[in-house]
Amino acid sequence: MKDVNILAIESSCDETSMAIVKNGCEVVECVVLTQMDTHAKFGGVVPEVASRMHTENITMVLDELLRKSGMNKDEIDAIAVTYAPGLLGSLLVGLECAKTIAFVWNKPLIKVNHTIGHIYANNLMKKMNYPMLALVVSGGHTDMVIMKDDYEFEKLGSSLDDSIGEVYDKVARVLGLKYPGGPNIEKLAQNGKYSYDLPKPVNDDTYNFSYSGLKSAVINLVHNEEQRNNEINKEDLAYSFQVVAIDELVRKVELAIKNIGVKNMIIAGGVSANKYLREQMKNLCEKYNVELTIPDFKYCTDNAAMIGAAAYPLYLKKDFSKLDINASSYSSFV
Ligand code: KG4
Ligand code: ZN
Repeated sequence: MKDVNILAIESSCDETSMAIVKNGCEVVECVVLTQMDTHAKFGGVVPEVASRMHTENITMVLDELLRKSGMNKDEIDAIAVTYAPGLLGSLLVGLECAKTIAFVWNKPLIKVNHTIGHIYANNLMKKMNYPMLALVVSGGHTDMVIMKDDYEFEKLGSSLDDSIGEVYDKVARVLGLKYPGGPNIEKLAQNGKYSYDLPKPVNDDTYNFSYSGLKSAVINLVHNEEQRNNEINKEDLAYSFQVVAIDELVRKVELAIKNIGVKNMIIAGGVSANKYLREQMKNLCEKYNVELTIPDFKYCTDNAAMIGAAAYPLYLKKDFSKLDINASSYSSFV
């Protein structure tokens, strides 16, 4: 069969990214322009600033992609784009760009859900085997999902309140760390030990999660100690938080492995870049003989290569979109 090259665009939050992905699994080129340093000054992503920066940068990113890949329009088979979920203004910039390229180059347009994109980042490592358990841990999601085949999702459970990434970011903020919080907590925790007794998230046997109690406990602890002029050992607190937050993911995954007899598993989303999580999941999967795939660090956080990977099964099904599709800030994929 002829190779299929998909040009993919991702702009749902604060990364302007474009990639060319061959056959859904090989990254020909991927350009990521992050706005992280700008938003760090504000302590988080400012939506209006993000969409303006996407508008300013998106054609430069396209130029760089075409130059670095050495490819031209005749070698591209389709244009894929994230249409949901994310910041509406940011999504619209990528979506309009994708529609314009699709129209001018006369290529089919494929709309891709961002969260599904995170899952398909694993196809860039090795072809996903079904049935499979997917643990999605990002700024917007904490989900456990069974996939029986491409685009066949069955939800086991999810967070009843805050997502794990959101809690990492909030805890980072109260500890005075810069945005994005996850990698900075991880760094701080490297020199810490378990010394703060934090409440465990819901201690039940469902596949749901709850992280708001843990978040409030850390915030209250910091405020109380500050009011008493007591010093906080930030390294220890970061470490203790991380252990409690991630051990809960491990406990629930172990439950699914035991109950359902899972044999294949992937992890997806920004928090999957966390080394403690990666290590704990590797140990768990080794113990139960489960085949585990985790994306390379560069494909854990937002990037367009994962969107190209997720678009490939849709291309094969000719699941193309019209040029009047809209963006959506919210979208559940299960
Ligand atoms: O998947 P992502 O880039 O964006 C969404 O689709 O939500 O995830 C961003 C989240 C942020 O909350 C960020 O703090 C977290 O992923 N994150 C991490 C790490 N790297 C990114 N959390 C823990 N440890 C990390 N190394
Ligand atoms: Zn993401």
